[in-house]
Amino acid sequence: MTFEWDDSLSVGVEEIDRQHRELIRRLDLLAEAVMSGRGKDRIKILIDFMESYAEEHFATEERYMEMYSYPGTDHHRREHARFWTAVMKLRDMLESEGETDYLAVSVERFLMDWLILHIKNTDMEFGRFLRDKV
Ligand SMILES: [Fe+2]
Ligand SMILES: [Fe+2]
Repeated sequence: MTFEWDDSLSVGVEEIDRQHRELIRRLDLLAEAVMSGRGKDRIKILIDFMESYAEEHFATEERYMEMYSYPGTDHHRREHARFWTAVMKLRDMLESEGETDYLAVSVERFLMDWLILHIKNTDMEFGRFLRDKV
């Protein structure tokens, strides 16, 4: 399975699109590694990336939400908080069990769900709201 960003994923703000594009690129690299049995080699890099992504990207989106008084802010923020919790759990697993293929597959599944449930739904909804503002 390959993951690629395309225009249908655009929320209309270049900064946000660029960050989404990078997450999808990382997910694609992980999926490729998992498929060829090298998932565990990329797992630490990925979890490190997810941490900095969460910090930078959620701050960016939430800044736009505040700027335009987005009515769905609370719900959206809660989903971001859930991503944080998941990353912390994955970090704990990494520390207790080390770099395993099982962990790589767990991260892959988590990011696939995130892409579908959050980026393609919650972020796109926010994008539709932003479209008339920016
Ligand atoms: Fe996002
Ligand atoms: Fe978001």
